[in-house]
Amino acid sequence: MRPTVLMKAAMTLDGQLAAADGTSQWISSPEARRDGHRLRAEVDAVMVGAGTVRADDPRLTVRLPPDGGGDVKQPVPVIVAGKGGLPPDAQLFRRDPVLMSPTGLDLPGRVIIAPDSSGDRVDLAAGLSELYAMGIRHLLVEGGSRLFRSLLEAHLIDRAVFYYGPLLAGGVGAPLFQGRWSTLADARVVRAGVGRPLGESIRLDIDLVRRG
Ligand SMILES: NC(=O)c1ccc[n+]([C@@H]2O[C@H](COP(=O)([O-])OP(=O)(O)OC[C@H]3O[C@@H](n4cnc5c(N)ncnc54)[C@H](OP(=O)(O)O)[C@@H]3O)[C@@H](O)[C@H]2O)c1
Repeated sequence: MRPTVLMKAAMTLDGQLAAADGTSQWISSPEARRDGHRLRAEVDAVMVGAGTVRADDPRLTVRLPPDGGGDVKQPVPVIVAGKGGLPPDAQLFRRDPVLMSPTGLDLPGRVIIAPDSSGDRVDLAAGLSELYAMGIRHLLVEGGSRLFRSLLEAHLIDRAVFYYGPLLAGGVGAPLFQGRWSTLADARVVRAGVGRPLGESIRLDIDLVRRG
């Protein structure tokens, strides 16, 4: 068993999550960012890759205006780490994160050790099963490009919410999925909803679960 997995990303209209120098704040509108906080409020845990911790130092907390829905339960932060190291002063270490890693880590937090066959990366399916065993039923994944690609390849994403900001990057920085698209037949067939405006951004909901 594993949690349901919702992927969330803010990107330019041509599919870039961040520029080559790592800058990405803010691609989407304030309305879209508020909507993203509401997504966090609906899940048990929020996951990011180590690359995102190093680039953005996120907090992954629910931050909504006082009238935004009363008391909110803060989701458990989950970091997928490899061999590249994590800054020990990262903000997430103040929030008792779950660290998913191929090896033990000398960092604050609960560790799920789940090596893949290379021993350098995390076996994400095994890691998600461990999260389920910890009581996590609904997981939001917020990036970045490498983690998104690995989850997609492993067929571990159920739904996605994309926020498109009114920007054309005009080149490649951090694409939505980091990896090669070899041939048309490799593309995933999904069910996309109708785009909804959120200020100057557009929210698109995508269902990746194949039926029938
Ligand atoms: N616009 C948005 O919505 C948004 C959201 C989040 C992030 N971003 C941007 O995305 C960029 C970071 O993306 P990224 O691709 O560099 O990093 P990432 O996907 O956040 O993290 C990838 C890292 O996770 C670790 N890892 C361990 N096992 C893995 C596995 N099975 N699959 C994938 N990763 C695994 C590895 O860490 P080690 O390196 O330690 O081996 C890997 O390098 C930043 O520029 C950030 O600003 C944008």
